[in-house]
Amino acid sequence: MKKKIFSGVQPTGNLHLGNYIGAIKNFVSLQNDKNNECVYCVVDLHAITVKQDPKILKNNIRETTAAFLASGLDSKKSIIFNQSMVSAHSEGSWILSCVARMGWLNRMTQFKEKAGKDKEKASVGLYIYPILMAADILLYDSTHVPVGEDQKQHLELSRDIAQKFNLEFNEPDFFIAPEPLIQKNFARIMSLKDGSKKMSKSDPSDLSRINLNDSKDEIINKIKKAKTDTQPLPDDEKNLRERPEAENLLGIYSSLNNQSFKDTINEFSGKNFSEFKNNLSELIVEKISPISNEINKLLKDNSFIDGVLREGAEKASKITTRKINEMKKIIGF
Ligand code: AMP
Ligand code: TRP
Repeated sequence: MKKKIFSGVQPTGNLHLGNYIGAIKNFVSLQNDKNNECVYCVVDLHAITVKQDPKILKNNIRETTAAFLASGLDSKKSIIFNQSMVSAHSEGSWILSCVARMGWLNRMTQFKEKAGKDKEKASVGLYIYPILMAADILLYDSTHVPVGEDQKQHLELSRDIAQKFNLEFNEPDFFIAPEPLIQKNFARIMSLKDGSKKMSKSDPSDLSRINLNDSKDEIINKIKKAKTDTQPLPDDEKNLRERPEAENLLGIYSSLNNQSFKDTINEFSGKNFSEFKNNLSELIVEKISPISNEINKLLKDNSFIDGVLREGAEKASKITTRKINEMKKIIGF
């Protein structure tokens, strides 16, 4: 049985090394396994749950698509598209919002965090966003969904919605309850300035992250300025407790070099940070610069990117129109 993979990334700009190691690199490995059928979506409908500038949003949709392609996603192997071009996502989301319960949504911790103190002023879209995410996943009969730890709760909700629909309409096999695929290693890349905070596009300091479109010099400079501590690199994982910055940099090295954490520790044990940082910058430049160059090249040709999205949307529409029509029949429309 083929695995059906679905995942989405919001087009909110500034894709960084955390997005690459925590998500996109994994999307590429899943795509390159012949047993998988993959769908990767630029989730622009999710992005508008908070205010967006229309011009910047349009750029960000193209930029996220360019980052997908530059990182190795291939529109011949995977379906790559943006959500708003496939109307079944919105339509499915409405139907599923009549299946999901208020009580379930009230438990979503991401809404509580994002809405903050002033819940009354948050958009209704932000509140029901996990239902849209469920529609994304369920419309493709997805079996596996690669996501970060923070999305685990939303995936559980997708499973609950799938099961409730199946039960309510006595169609036990209609929706498939998807399994999360949560990366065990290097699932959280931390800020270069503070090892206790996630690397994030919203951090005001650009020195806290490596952006996928940083130049070689910017990468070298950011790694040079990255926070460390005064001890030499450890010879044992245990000696990394309470040294989050060292742990993070060693993790980045391990992931990009496709080797275990243990092997990286053995390689650098007892060395000082300046030597390790030289090796780390070299590796990041080697892995990220080709991606960055390719993103910049792709962004010069909007018609190519738009063509990829259009073609992806056609393929996605074929799958989802069938599923939506089946849904409507089951419901009694
Ligand atoms: P976001 O940029 O938060 O919309 O996330 C897009 C994808 O990148 C999600 O799958 C996240 O889990 C992943 N991601 C974002 N930031 C990091 C990080 N610092 N470390 C690892 N993965 C991340
Ligand atoms: N909510 C996810 C995030 O913010 C993005 C997303 C939307 C998604 N739809 C999805 C992820 C479906 C996996 C599957 O990161």
